[in-house]
Amino acid sequence: MSIKPLLPGALGFGTAPLGNMFRAIPDEEAAATVEAAWDQGIRYFDTAPFYGAGLSEIRLGDVLAQHPRDEFVLSTKVGRVILDEIEDPAARDLGEKGGLFEHGRPNKMVNDYTADATLRSIEDSLKRLRTDRLDIVWVHDVAQDFYGDEWLAAYETARTGAFRVLQKLREEGVIKAWGLGVNRVEPLELTLDLDEPKPDAFLLAGRYTLLDHDRALQRLLPAAAAQDVDIVVGGPYSSGILAGGTHFEYQQAPAHIIDKVARIKALTQRHGVGIKSAALQFSLAHPATAAVIPGATRPSRIAEDLAALGEPIPAAFWTDLRAERLIAQDAPVPTA
Ligand SMILES: NC(=O)c1ccc[n+]([C@@H]2O[C@H](COP(=O)([O-])OP(=O)(O)OC[C@H]3O[C@@H](n4cnc5c(N)ncnc54)[C@H](OP(=O)(O)O)[C@@H]3O)[C@@H](O)[C@H]2O)c1
Repeated sequence: MSIKPLLPGALGFGTAPLGNMFRAIPDEEAAATVEAAWDQGIRYFDTAPFYGAGLSEIRLGDVLAQHPRDEFVLSTKVGRVILDEIEDPAARDLGEKGGLFEHGRPNKMVNDYTADATLRSIEDSLKRLRTDRLDIVWVHDVAQDFYGDEWLAAYETARTGAFRVLQKLREEGVIKAWGLGVNRVEPLELTLDLDEPKPDAFLLAGRYTLLDHDRALQRLLPAAAAQDVDIVVGGPYSSGILAGGTHFEYQQAPAHIIDKVARIKALTQRHGVGIKSAALQFSLAHPATAAVIPGATRPSRIAEDLAALGEPIPAAFWTDLRAERLIAQDAPVPTA
């Protein structure tokens, strides 16, 4: 089932950074960023228990609780349960993403994709988000970047646990849609091959961006489109480097990525185009993508994102990107 009718538009707001992803953000700044999104008409918000061990959900819920529940679409995730027990956030084993959310809450997080943990996680999220229902639930990070060679075992637990529970909740009308929220294409390709359970959509982060899209373009996106499984593009700025920041894949960007971004930037400057505009519009140009959900911690970013979405981009810019082999030859590009 396509989730396009469920989503209020092509631009949502991703709240991972509000869990103190890279830095400790004052509560007021986090609230002002969500309020800026609301005031400028954003009505789809994504969060997760993982984002600061509940901090992003709490901050988002504080603002959204002031607005009628029917007026916005909310997604969160399952796969990590937040306990009352305290741990050192800097010492967590996060695979390739070490150090992430070390400024978040110090609550212990337990990876758990079983049916029971899924239900518990949803109950806990509802409380932190101060709401009585979720619209979309993503099974979070069941992939190699977090579990290394053990990822298929985690996936199997999710397939027989979280996936089935979420499918049942969707059939009962408790939630409107479910899927996986990951930074890797492999678990999504695997899921599309299953007869049952069938997800409605995927949140794919960082793998269908202006900077990195080859693999998803080959098999995943055509297969998803053929099954009417929409893609929500997370991390459309590749975690910051495409927007003027310094992060790629949630770490300081390596030299070859900085060089590639510099080459893309040179073309944006030649054509008088904003790089954020190119990034958001590229991700949205594929027919399989339903929305982009850039993240931010500063209120001013929201207006930037909205302007980026609406900026006219000359066709010659995309032609030059192709000619310089900075995007795949067969990647769809926006038409004016
Ligand atoms: N596994 C999953 O399901 C998964 C994984 C990743 C992401 N996601 C979802 O996708 C959302 C978006 O991803 P993301 O937030 O990780 O990354 P992103 O949207 O690619 O990039 C966000 C970063 O870009 C920076 N930025 C924006 N405009 C800028 C500017 N003009 N100059 C410098 N920096 C700028 C922001 O910095 P400031 O903080 O300074 O504003 C923020 O740190 C997440 O919030 C989450 O909802 C899901």
